[in-house]
Amino acid sequence: MSLTPTREDKFSFGLWTIGYNGTDPFGGPTRAPLDVVHAVEKLSELGAYGLTFHDDDLFAFGSTDAERQTQIDRLKTVLGDTGLVVPMVTTNLFSAPVFKDGGFTSNDRAVRRFALRKVLRNIDLAAELGATTFVMWGGREGAEYDAAKDIRSALERYREAVNLLGDYVTDKGYDIRFAIEPKPNEPRGDILLPTVGHALAFIETLERPELVGVNPEVGHEQMAGLNFAAGIAQALYQGKLFHIDLNGQRGIKYDQDLVFGHGDLHNAFALVDLLENGGPGGATTYDGPRHFDYKPSRTEDESGVWESAAANMRTYLLLKERAAAFRADPEVQEALAASRVPELSVPTLGEGESYADLLADRSAFEDFDADAYFDGKGFGFVRLQQLALEHLAGAR
Ligand code: GCO
Ligand code: MN
Ligand code: MN
Repeated sequence: MSLTPTREDKFSFGLWTIGYNGTDPFGGPTRAPLDVVHAVEKLSELGAYGLTFHDDDLFAFGSTDAERQTQIDRLKTVLGDTGLVVPMVTTNLFSAPVFKDGGFTSNDRAVRRFALRKVLRNIDLAAELGATTFVMWGGREGAEYDAAKDIRSALERYREAVNLLGDYVTDKGYDIRFAIEPKPNEPRGDILLPTVGHALAFIETLERPELVGVNPEVGHEQMAGLNFAAGIAQALYQGKLFHIDLNGQRGIKYDQDLVFGHGDLHNAFALVDLLENGGPGGATTYDGPRHFDYKPSRTEDESGVWESAAANMRTYLLLKERAAAFRADPEVQEALAASRVPELSVPTLGEGESYADLLADRSAFEDFDADAYFDGKGFGFVRLQQLALEHLAGAR
């Protein structure tokens, strides 16, 4: 297995990731702005296949039509020259002061109408560039104060907005699906649809639920103390993993956006194993872009930006290799069986068995030896996890 990224690996990067200039709430930029043409050329050189962007990453908020078109044309030219694609586009509804109380769910109705227009315009651009996924990260959709936001009305407005976007792509015949990106907080004190679970439940209330899935980000679920790989497994189970944001996070704190694997490495290993080997018979479970949404640390100069971009891809490929070795190890197979992991796929009731049959089955209850589970019948999960660690550490 090669550790050199190729287009087949489907690695993509947000223009805002490599373009992050180091600004944080405590200090200004530590790096110069990054031009989109240079960004695409460098990504292509490093082996990525795709670029994603917010409208405002490509042309500044408030650009004239001519300025906007110049940037779109420059992007198209460099995409043509390099062969990079734009698999996903997203809209910035969070940076400009007008969005300080949100876009789709601002208390101010005029702002909500403006947000919808901004998104519709950007959907046209997404379709023009061939993007098939449109991400919606509602970073400003939320509140700091309980009295400030009527949450039920806010959800109703969110729903109204997403329903309208669904009508729009359907009427236009665009091959575009939407992916909601949950995040618990930051920049708002509390953000609406804070976790994968909240987003999945919301999607079921929509008029066209089939058009909407999730774009979970590693760090966002981990900021909420949740197990990212487990959340991804549920999104896959429900057929809703439309896109993914890979990065690193160390525990419950501000959104760190570290390089993939530079946070919870065990969970990153479990995630790559799930994506690459988690399907029936060890098949791939997700064939969309492996999209990195990270921030090159403020401490780095431009060479560190490209170093970190390469690190994301190399880490993914390393984990893919380690996960394949883990699955291929006969001792792991034996440990999985001893832990009865495959047994969970066997239905609890026999074929055609009713509750009456279950009630009549003495072996299930009256004759069942529940006491045998005291200091007996251990599952061996620790041994299994140690085997995972040994593969991860390159010890096997
Ligand atoms: C964040 C988010 C964003 C989104 C992006 C795409 O926490 O800042 O992850 O980076 O992914 O806005 O919609
Ligand atoms: Mn983030
Ligand atoms: Mn993200």
